[in-house]
Amino acid sequence: MDFRCAVAEKVSEITGLELEQVNRLLEIPPQEDMGDFAFPCFMLAKTMHKAPNMIASELSGSEKLSASWLSKVEAKGPYLNFFVDRGAFSKEIVSDILSKGTEYGKSDEGAGKTVIVEFSSPNIAKPFHVGHAFTTILGHSLSRIYEKLGYNVVRMNHLGDYGTQFGKLITAYRLWGDEEALEKDPITELLRIYVKFHEEEKNDPELTTSARENFKRLEDGCEEEVSLWQKFRDMSLIVFEQLYKRMGVTFDNYNGESYYAKMADQVVSMLKEKNLLVESDGAQVVDLEEFGVPPCIILKSDGTTIYGTRDIAAILYRDENYHFDKNIYVVGIPQALHFKQVFSTLKKAGYECADKCEHVGFGLVKFQNMKFSTRDGNIVLLEELLDESVAKTYELIKANAEARNSDLSDEELRDIAEKVGLGAVIYTYVKAGRERDIVFSWDTMLDFEGDTAPYLIYTYARTRSILRKAADQGFLPEKAGSDLLTKLDGDEEFACVKALGDLPEAIRKAASSNEPFMVSRAVSGIARAFNRFYNNCSILGGDDNEKKTARLALCEAVCDAIEAGTYLLGISVVEQM
Ligand code: ARG
Repeated sequence: MDFRCAVAEKVSEITGLELEQVNRLLEIPPQEDMGDFAFPCFMLAKTMHKAPNMIASELSGSEKLSASWLSKVEAKGPYLNFFVDRGAFSKEIVSDILSKGTEYGKSDEGAGKTVIVEFSSPNIAKPFHVGHAFTTILGHSLSRIYEKLGYNVVRMNHLGDYGTQFGKLITAYRLWGDEEALEKDPITELLRIYVKFHEEEKNDPELTTSARENFKRLEDGCEEEVSLWQKFRDMSLIVFEQLYKRMGVTFDNYNGESYYAKMADQVVSMLKEKNLLVESDGAQVVDLEEFGVPPCIILKSDGTTIYGTRDIAAILYRDENYHFDKNIYVVGIPQALHFKQVFSTLKKAGYECADKCEHVGFGLVKFQNMKFSTRDGNIVLLEELLDESVAKTYELIKANAEARNSDLSDEELRDIAEKVGLGAVIYTYVKAGRERDIVFSWDTMLDFEGDTAPYLIYTYARTRSILRKAADQGFLPEKAGSDLLTKLDGDEEFACVKALGDLPEAIRKAASSNEPFMVSRAVSGIARAFNRFYNNCSILGGDDNEKKTARLALCEAVCDAIEAGTYLLGISVVEQM
């Protein structure tokens, strides 16, 4: 039984409102004494010609509200508060989780619908910095969240693999390129010659000419230039893919800007045909005054296309090949205007798919008292951030293992540190609304008692160890028949069950708002509620074996929910630590 639906049905019955509408309005109250679900009566005031407070109080007396699973219904101000029967609720939620395991929260509401998630999209030959990590982590998480809800998800990496900079790189490589260095550390080598090009260019205008010619040859498909470009692209991708693999990130395709550049002509002729191109300072643009944004440049004065033209081509390509229901772009807030221009251009050209495109922006990444040893300059590479986090985690868990005389081998400790260290970084990116800036600080992110991945993973590992210990004593959670689960009605137990019950809704909300933090908040709520229970009640103590078994079932459910939730964020749990 779904309690939320059951409450909604009751409300719909006594108010005559549509079930769907009630379901949308139903809230989870912020405080325990306000019950488990609350229905706000404001919107009934108009039709019932009464104050919401009065309506709530009248409705609370309705006989139709009695049910075995409802312990009471109370009016509080304009709200109708529902208190469910704890035992019945616990039995429902915990047995649901135990039967589904880590599939808990899965649904098929997205079945038959396609969502394109475009994320990561780094630039070839450029370092993969912490800003690209933001899109990578958010996009990876959103992809998993949509998948959990049954959507067909297409993960796209719109590589920055096109543009005049490749003409410069070709010129620079021919002059100063070091093949061996390129093999060893491609991005560093490409960056080195790129920087050198800009320095030398100041005194040598021929370099500029050569770069322009090389770019033209590349565009025209000349073999040598294309093969150099291909080499830069392939080698950069090897580096990016190492990072993706480390984080468990995958893509369905890497069609970058170069792929869509070939289709830019079609965009130009389509816009011409529709009479949407106007001249402005020699360039061809689409006027977007009616959308309240500056014109979208399609062709520069020298007749070449730009970034935006390629984005328009990409949307048309995606629409034709994927028939998407949603096409989301996980790209930093500074590009908000760019996307508005691109989407508005398509809208003006009459494409319905324009309304299905959405820019999912995010804030900036900052660091507090953190120094990175390997490189200088202002940019922090994701790899450095991950390595440092893993190294610091390793020291922490190693010290802890020694203090406890644990028998974990060094190899095991390193494996745990890799997962927890990565988790700590990932969690920092997804723990708050994506538009907020992020501030990294070791103390905060590696705090095993804070709102962190180490805290979640530790809670999971410790709970697993309780379950192992219990199994050794012959107590198994699966022996908790569903009637035993009604024993989970103490304050702490019930709070924990309620936190568990919030996860599916949080997943749905995370998808509808493209905010993974909804999931991280729900998972952290489960861990917090569980730890309160753990600290106040002895799970394996006492001699009420039935209670013990029921509590172990709760432990098992908490593990499943934490594992399922952290997976959606891109974080892995460990069995012991
Ligand atoms: N490569 C770009 C950058 O690093 C991001 C690409 C965003 N995606 C897009 N379809 N324009 O800034």
